[in-house]
Amino acid sequence: MPEQPLLQLAYVSTAQTDITADCIAEIHQQAERNNRLHHITGLLLATEQHFLQLLEGPKRDVELTYARIQRDKRHHHVRLIFQNTVSERQFPEWHMGLRRSFDQAEHEDVTAIVNLYGQRSQFSAQHGAALVLLLSSL
Ligand SMILES: Cc1cc2nc3c(=O)[nH]c(=O)nc-3n(C[C@H](O)[C@H](O)[C@H](O)COP(=O)(O)O)c2cc1C
Repeated sequence: MPEQPLLQLAYVSTAQTDITADCIAEIHQQAERNNRLHHITGLLLATEQHFLQLLEGPKRDVELTYARIQRDKRHHHVRLIFQNTVSERQFPEWHMGLRRSFDQAEHEDVTAIVNLYGQRSQFSAQHGAALVLLLSSL
């Protein structure tokens, strides 16, 4: 079977108002488990108000996963920031892990990035490109 193209996609969403730390941990576990099965990598950032996630992997797997995520009641106002076919993964080592090792400075960067995108409804190509650079810097 010919190899599927690699799709990279990022979105930002608004968390359900009563989201708890336990709930976020459960989402991470679910994401990590499923994404390993589907060869999806990327990262999921969460603040109290927003989620920002970048997914990359075989096109069909990413599309099906994104469709499931969009229907999830734990968040709403899911906004696509960009989707592109790419020649290689940019975050090959991240099976959606929550990076638990954020130090204080990184934590502030993450919060700033998620809030910046979380407040917008529409995104240009520049927003997408800038996001990939910002995430690579974490
Ligand atoms: C912010 C957010 C991010 C999520 N990320 C993923 C993900 O990367 N991969 C995934 O399979 N499910 C993810 N989920 C969970 C899916 O919406 C869905 O509940 C899950 O895929 C169902 O899988 P299950 O039938 O194995 O429980 C996410 C949910 C939320 C709210």
